[in-house]
Amino acid sequence: MSNSAQINVDGNTYELPVIEGTENEKAIDISKLRGQSGVITIDPGFKNTGSTQSAITFLDGEKGILRYRGYSIEELAEKSSFLEVSYLLIYGELPTAEQYANFKKDITRHTMVHEDVKKILEGFPSVAHPMGVLSSLVCAQTAFYPESLDPNRSGEEVDLSIVRLIAKLPTFAAWSYKNQIGHPVNYPDNSLDYASNFLKMMFANPAENFDVDPVVADALDKLLILHADHEQNCSASTVRIVGSSHASMYASISAGINALWGPLHGGANQAVIEMLENIKNDGGDTKKWMAKAKDKDDPFRLMGFGHRVYKNFDPRARIIKKAADDVLEKLGVNDPILDIAKGLEEEALKDQYFVDRKLYPNVDFYSGIIYRALGIPTDMFTVMFAIGRLPGWIAQWKEMRENKEPIGRPRQVYTGYNERSYTDIGQR
Ligand code: ACO
Repeated sequence: MSNSAQINVDGNTYELPVIEGTENEKAIDISKLRGQSGVITIDPGFKNTGSTQSAITFLDGEKGILRYRGYSIEELAEKSSFLEVSYLLIYGELPTAEQYANFKKDITRHTMVHEDVKKILEGFPSVAHPMGVLSSLVCAQTAFYPESLDPNRSGEEVDLSIVRLIAKLPTFAAWSYKNQIGHPVNYPDNSLDYASNFLKMMFANPAENFDVDPVVADALDKLLILHADHEQNCSASTVRIVGSSHASMYASISAGINALWGPLHGGANQAVIEMLENIKNDGGDTKKWMAKAKDKDDPFRLMGFGHRVYKNFDPRARIIKKAADDVLEKLGVNDPILDIAKGLEEEALKDQYFVDRKLYPNVDFYSGIIYRALGIPTDMFTVMFAIGRLPGWIAQWKEMRENKEPIGRPRQVYTGYNERSYTDIGQR
């Protein structure tokens, strides 16, 4: 049989089906293997394990290809808008002009949040990291919309939660920043587009006039598109696995925000800037830091380098690098950190250690530099990533529920003690 694989365990052969995707990717379906043979497969970090069949995003890490619903990331970044891309990811097709107008109108209408959200916000100390605040406020929506807890909601009810979430996330994000700096929050301005409204809520203050710079808003919209989905990464898998227990969409997305927070995932954009600043303050000797990254006894890693799936180049990094140059030029920003970043990249690309391990700059290597140029504070970088990734998480959650996927529950190989007797210390 050509579309099957054989596995030999303890002298017995088992025939396993091979599944093929629309881009000819093949996978051995081992879902029945344990029932047949008593054996499971093990793959820490799921490096070689497909958790689902998905029609949302295709990426080929060897060739550096990334497509949302079949459309290349390059074309979408150049021609589309973040809200159109959100619609595409969530509903599977580009919207018609009418669908787009309605989607945009709905999102605009729901940007306000319940006044009691402010009370929750005020409970956070000013040192709270905005990612923790963001995930808390998203999860808190289950309290404001308790009907969202019903796992058997209709399509229209789910659509309303989707609109609410996309509409309100920028409000939560900007408010988490305002709370951090002790300023009054700004209410949304529904006369503005998605990115401009967010920028106004972030940066306007009652003491001054504030006009959104269209260069900044355009750059932000593009960054959001580039981050919008990335198939079964750590946070998307988290969203799917939490949602697989039929937890509400808000609870699932809140979990995704927490997964994104870590420096090995979305938190890398903050870590990159902190690393570049350290290098600058240390005298800018990039060779010294390259040596540290290669030293196995040194925990330092070159942040923004390497990727679980891209082993050639990250197509998003290519677009972002160019966008970083354009934005800095248009805004007249001269950032010494950009020179350090370029120097590091140049050295890494010809260094045997990085070449052998196929370590290339990833999306986060240059995104932090643009965020900095746009005036976004460093610990808000991962929040920006979360705003961008939201439609992808929603699409992943929706697909998982619509496909009626079973609860996510991996197995393990137990390596602890065998059964032993309890030692009674007489505590009862
Ligand atoms: N600097 C130095 N060495 C590295 C780096 C790095 N940034 N990344 C990987 N390596 C080395 C590892 O030490 C390992 O070397 P070895 O084979 O000699 O032991 C080899 O390259 C393979 O690395 P792994 O950690 O096994 O690869 P994995 O796929 O598990 O990790 C990851 C991918 C987490 C992205 C890793 O490359 C990393 O930590 N990069 C820095 C953090 C970062 O930029 N994260 C953002 C990723 S993009 C995103 O989430 C949006």
